[in-house]
Amino acid sequence: METLHLRGCSPLDDGVKKAAAMLHDGGIVAIPTETVYGLAANAYDADAILRVFQAKGRPQDNPLIVHICDWDQLAPLVTEIPDDARRLADAFWPGPLTMVLPKSDLLPDCVSAGLDTVAVRMPSNPVARAVIRQSGCPLAAPSANLSGRPSPTAAQHVIDDLDGKIDGILMSGDCEVGVESTVILLAGGAKRLLRPGGVTREMLEAVIGPVDLDKAVLSAEITGGVSSPGMKYKHYSPATKVTLVSGSGDAYAEYVNACSDSCAAVCFQEDIPLLSCPTVVYGTGKDELTLAHGIFDALRRVDALGVQVAFVHAPSKTGVGLAVYNRLLRAAAFDVVER
Ligand code: TXA
Ligand code: MG
Repeated sequence: METLHLRGCSPLDDGVKKAAAMLHDGGIVAIPTETVYGLAANAYDADAILRVFQAKGRPQDNPLIVHICDWDQLAPLVTEIPDDARRLADAFWPGPLTMVLPKSDLLPDCVSAGLDTVAVRMPSNPVARAVIRQSGCPLAAPSANLSGRPSPTAAQHVIDDLDGKIDGILMSGDCEVGVESTVILLAGGAKRLLRPGGVTREMLEAVIGPVDLDKAVLSAEITGGVSSPGMKYKHYSPATKVTLVSGSGDAYAEYVNACSDSCAAVCFQEDIPLLSCPTVVYGTGKDELTLAHGIFDALRRVDALGVQVAFVHAPSKTGVGLAVYNRLLRAAAFDVVER
């Protein structure tokens, strides 16, 4: 099929109106958000949602996030809005926070893969908000990558993965945050962080008190039932084998420089003078926000080097670093070296 490439650099661009009309009419269209590009469909249209799963090659037991542009769109999607959800929405919506709440029967089951909860978020990207508003419906949208690949933070990443498989791509600039939204479970009295993201655990706890960290965030272990189904799949992987290496710049470089295979370093800017192999920089270790912004593009670029293994310098696990570390653990299939 032909995929329409539409311009969506500002909410006033004609492409925004066209994308919204396509979504209203049952189409599936990739749209920019502040985290990563999403592959959107009308959240009430089961046929369109099934096409999203097919285009991505996504397992059908992995539920989608529903995107809204104002508070009034939330009530019909859920059966209850806990006080903590109101507080978090006041503090962080619009923005990179997804809340998992009890699901209403108005939504088709395929949105949430048969679970009795639904994940909802209100993005802050003005183009995303304009598309949701003009389409007249909440939009179910997973990240707009082929399942298993690094999430798309640039329009070109979406083209590389999905051109010819979806109705349209609303092309905009690079995504500001660069890792997907924080996902917190708030159904059934829980306060559990399922996926770390741009809104950090520390920021959540400042508003609603202690938040549990789901086991799946830092291990391959999956807790039963309601924890985040997405965490069990191999994820974010370039074709190149990835190994995550923790340690100071010197310790990291010493390990990488001793490697006898053909290798590359996915590293911090400040590591470059220490390394003797090809490098892909993903930010500076002094600022986790730069690492979040750059990581998925770096994982895609490393394949062009044609090496056997990519050694990624691990970020700290604090602040947004936890989100980056969580994605890298999966990109590396949990192959971690501590130095
Ligand atoms: O930033 C983002 O969240 C991006 C943009 C496009 O908004 N979207 C995104 O969607 O990352 P996706 O489908 O790649 O990831 C959704 C995550 C998965 O880990 C999924 O398992 C989890 O949210 N999730 C969705 N619904 C859930 C539910 N009802 N219960 C638990 N986890 C859920
Ligand atoms: Mg995804």
